[in-house]
Amino acid sequence: MSKPVAVVTGAGSGIGLAVATHLHSKGFRVVIAELNPTTGAEAAKKLGDNATFIQVDVASYPSQARLFKQAYEWGGNRLDFFHANAGIDDRQMLYDGTEKEEVDAEGLVKPLNTKSMQVNLEAVIQGLWLFKYYVRRSKEAGGGKGKFVATSSAAGLYFMTQNPQYTASKYGIVGLVRAAGPILVKEGITVNAICPAFIPTGLCPPEILPLWPKEHITPMATALKAIDAILADDTLTAETIELSQENIYFRKCVDWVNESQRWIGEESQSIWDLGYQKVPERPNFE
Ligand SMILES: NC(=O)c1ccc[n+]([C@@H]2O[C@H](COP(=O)([O-])OP(=O)(O)OC[C@H]3O[C@@H](n4cnc5c(N)ncnc54)[C@H](O)[C@@H]3O)[C@@H](O)[C@H]2O)c1
Repeated sequence: MSKPVAVVTGAGSGIGLAVATHLHSKGFRVVIAELNPTTGAEAAKKLGDNATFIQVDVASYPSQARLFKQAYEWGGNRLDFFHANAGIDDRQMLYDGTEKEEVDAEGLVKPLNTKSMQVNLEAVIQGLWLFKYYVRRSKEAGGGKGKFVATSSAAGLYFMTQNPQYTASKYGIVGLVRAAGPILVKEGITVNAICPAFIPTGLCPPEILPLWPKEHITPMATALKAIDAILADDTLTAETIELSQENIYFRKCVDWVNESQRWIGEESQSIWDLGYQKVPERPNFE
């Protein structure tokens, strides 16, 4: 039987590199999917056999779609594990003033740079869309079950005032896995997120590293603990796993505020299903 195949985005550095290396050591064939050609190629070379580098910009749908096609073919027509991990911090501050140069020729305020939303959230949703497609086509090669993991953040459970868009993108991942996780597991695809606290990586501004107290650092081993929990259980889905210091915590949705909200959340599904039996026809104002 062929080996299972994993794709990890942002695998040239930090958490992605550690997860890719871990999966490789567990017998996966691993695709290092990375924007940076130097770190991506180096990571694949270091792993050696059963690893390859495919350059991708996950913020571009065609680029990510090409990554999936190439990875599936390289893996012998199977994909088993996808870690949507690539992420960036905000590229423009929401709090910036509206200076003259931020207004276009018509006098309209230029849009905020929302690159962090594209990389951290939209690419993750498209990644789940693509992964599901290829898992369904992996049966003949010995696959057909899948594990999707996205890297959210502790900022996706709490908040980070310095990075409001980043915070919104990481909350978005939490919503995605909670909504899609219970559905896709029915066909053997688990959907989970990890929510790391502070792990020193390429993402952290270098200025803060010397100031950060050691007791508030989460070791990389904690991220791998969460990956092992996901690998070990084919029924573990819709989980948002917080990583802090040496521990992993399975974080639940907020409590129902009253009986009415509990009913809507837990018992109205069959009514909702009636409204979504086919793609809803709605007025299109686009
Ligand atoms: N380090 C932390 O403390 C921490 C905490 C919470 C969440 N996270 C999340 O962990 C994930 C990994 O970050 P990290 O800390 O390992 O940082 P990192 O900067 O070391 O690694 C991120 C990698 O993603 C790559 N990348 C960036 N944009 C990309 C794109 N458009 N397409 C493909 N690759 C791209 C970068 O080149 C880099 O190699 C991110 O989603 C980040 O938001 C990190």
